[in-house]
This record gives sequence, structure tokens and C-alpha cells, in this order.
Amino acid sequence: MLEKFTFRDMGSAYSSFLEYSGLQECVILQTCNRVELFGVGNTKDIERVKKTWASVAGLEENAFKENLEISEGTEAFEHLLKLTSGLDSLVVGEEQILGQIKKSINTARELNASGNNLNILFDKAIRVGSRVRHSTGISRGSISIGSMAVKLAEENIDDLKSKHILLIGTGEAASLVAKSLKKRNIEFFITSRTYERAKAFAETVGGNPIQFENAISSFKKVDVLFVATVAPYFLVTYDRIKEAMGSKKTGMMIMDLSNPRTVDERVSTIKRIKMMNLDQIAEIVDKNMRSRIGVVSSAEKIINEEILVVEAVMKRLEVEPVVKNVFKDIDQVRIKELKKALQMLGETDEQKIRIIDQLTQAIVEGIISTPMNNLRKATEQGDSELLKSVSKLFNYKIKE
Ligand SMILES: NC(=O)c1ccc[n+]([C@@H]2O[C@H](COP(=O)([O-])OP(=O)(O)OC[C@H]3O[C@@H](n4cnc5c(N)ncnc54)[C@H](OP(=O)(O)O)[C@@H]3O)[C@@H](O)[C@H]2O)c1
Repeated sequence: MLEKFTFRDMGSAYSSFLEYSGLQECVILQTCNRVELFGVGNTKDIERVKKTWASVAGLEENAFKENLEISEGTEAFEHLLKLTSGLDSLVVGEEQILGQIKKSINTARELNASGNNLNILFDKAIRVGSRVRHSTGISRGSISIGSMAVKLAEENIDDLKSKHILLIGTGEAASLVAKSLKKRNIEFFITSRTYERAKAFAETVGGNPIQFENAISSFKKVDVLFVATVAPYFLVTYDRIKEAMGSKKTGMMIMDLSNPRTVDERVSTIKRIKMMNLDQIAEIVDKNMRSRIGVVSSAEKIINEEILVVEAVMKRLEVEPVVKNVFKDIDQVRIKELKKALQMLGETDEQKIRIIDQLTQAIVEGIISTPMNNLRKATEQGDSELLKSVSKLFNYKIKE
């Protein structure tokens, strides 16, 4: 399902959203567990956003019916803070999401898709995520899906070190498995569709690289198989494993970390096969994490504090353009009238001109500063009525 909503070409996705959706700013966050769009706009026309999304991803319009969650304002800020803190991850506290969020905002910045609002929001959320991780230690005890898969293999198989282990995949998920195997000094074979990538992986992360075709045809030797790829079909089919097990006396453990799965579920029905998929591994990780409930509640406490700061910062962003325009317009009037007066006086003495200029500036600031500061304060505290009135008084347009 998630696959359907995924954006393949970020550049064209961003330009379509900016051109057709009514959003002035946007950031796309896409990981193996979520596809999210953060947007800022003058209208709340969700239908237009959905239409754009449908056309970019090639979806039917009703695809969103049961698959879309929408959050606005504070709820959306809170969601982002939970994400950066790792509270909304499959493995609570995991580090990767923070890196993925940094990557998303950087891409949006490079493509000029994010602006003042989202840049400030994401920067703040990333700082909160780091603070939560530092002060609660939520990431310290966290166990990655990759190392849990290795731990489960260790628990289920006697003397794992002496077994023939094959890892298919050279991406992030595969490297989590590889790192965990290496940490335990366990030898393994690594393969990927592209042999060069398997070789490079072996050099940087570890493992003995083998050609993909050789790996697939040597399943009968394999005792433990880890699969972490993004192949859009079953790489490990029922027939292949059935054939391998025909000439194999011992069992085989298969861990499919891929989402969507790349090992056919029917494989688990073959005799002497023990199989686990990503959801099952994640569930075990989740149970492990329950023991850290105290840590989660301290993380939530920090988020509750920080959400107030984020709200104030974002509200300030709403009011700042109006304040800036009021000062600018009044200053233009001041300069125009100052010039007129100086001309009428025929004043040429620089010191006198400077004194008159400073006098007019002081009058303008003296009159306008207090109301503008009150406007800022009121908006930060959630009172938007004053902003509406000021905008009306000075003929400025603000977000609905
Ligand atoms: N990243 C995570 O933290 C994480 C966590 C849990 C689960 N997962 C799941 O793990 C899987 C891999 O994620 P990833 O982030 O590691 O992805 P990735 O970095 O994009 O790596 C993709 C791997 O899949 C291989 N691949 C792609 N298309 C293939 C095809 N048609 N046939 C055979 N191999 C193919 C690639 O091999 P070549 O490049 O050599 O072609 C590469 O080794 C995904 O299903 C994801 O949902 C990821």
C-alpha cells in the first residue's frame, strides 16, 4: 500500500506540489514505513493537495479514502517532534529517522521547496529530537531491526558462528545486519543484484562478496538467510527454497527484513524452514522496548515542553511579515514627509538634517513599537483576533 503513495522522482514531485497543490512550501519525508508531506499554504484545500499527489504518484483519486491521516497546526508540530525523537518509529528511539528527516529538509531546501516556515520548523524539530535523545538516552538502549534479526538467529540456531550465512541486499537495512554480525565476529556472504555494490559493501561494512546468480543457486548450503532489498517481486521464491531443501539435511532460518516482502510467505510452509518477516521482528523489538516505558514518558515530557516553544516560534512567523510591512509603510511616509519638510526649510546643514531625521524616526518608533510588540505577544499566545484587525486596518493579507 505504502509503495503506491511513494514518489519516485523527488524533483518532479516537488515542482508539481508547488505549482498545482496550492502549497507555498512543502517537504516530503519518505522512509520504508511512511510517506509524509508537510505543507504550508494560504488555503486548506486538502482536495487539491490529494489531486496533485494522485497525479504525481499515479494513484486513483479514491486511493486516499482509508489511507490518509491529516494533522494541522500544533498536532502536526507534535507529530514532527515525535518523529525526530524516534517515538513514532517501528523501533522506538532508533537513530535513522533523524538522519532521514535531515536529508528530507536538505533536499527540500536545495530544490527551493521549503521556505522560512518549514525550514525553521524542521531545524527546531531536529534540535528537539537531539535533545530528547541526549537527555533521556532513548536511543542508547534501542536495538535496531538488523541487530534484533541477528539476535533472533543466535537464539534459534546453535553455534551460529559455524553456519553458512547469506545476506542479500547492500542498503541501509542490510548494513544494520552486517554490522551486528561483524560485532559478534560471525562470517557471512554478501550478495546484491549488482556485484560491484556487494564488493564495495564487503570492503566498507564487511562480508564475503559473491555473485547474485551463484548465491541464488547455492541456497542448499545456506543455514541462515537475511534478505533486505527493495525488489518489487519475490526474490526468494517457494520453488527455489523447496528445491534447495530437497537436497539439504539441516534446516534453514530466513529473515525477511524487506517491506514489501521479498520472500514468498509460502516458504514458511516448507519443512525445516523457520521464517520471520519484518513485522514479526519489529513486534519482538517493540516488546523489548516496553521495559523502557519510563524513558518514553520522559521523552514525552520534553516534547510537551518544547511544543509550546515551537508554537510560539511558528506563531511569530505568522505575525512577523505584518509587523515588517507596517514598519516599512510608515517609514516610507516618514521619509517622504521628511524630504518635503527639508526642502521647504531649505536646510543644508548636515548636523541639523541628522537631528530632524532622528527625531522623525524616534516619533515613528515611539508610536508604533508598543502596539507591534503587543501584536507579537498576542499572536504568540494564540490570540489571532488582533492580527486580523491589524491586517484589516493596514490592508494586509494574512493566511486564512
Ligand atoms: N532502511 C531501514 O532502516 C530499514 C529498516 C527496516 C526495513 N527496511 C526494509 O529493507 C529493505 C531495504 O531497505 P534499504 O533502506 O536498505 O534500501 P536501499 O538502501 O535502497 O537498498 C536496496 C537494496 O535492494 C537491492 N535491490 C533493489 N532492487 C532490486 C531488485 N529488483 N532485485 C534485487 N535486488 C534489488 C539493491 O541492490 P543493487 O543496488 O545492487 O541493485 C540494494 O542492495 C526495504 O524493503 C525496506 O523496507 C529498511
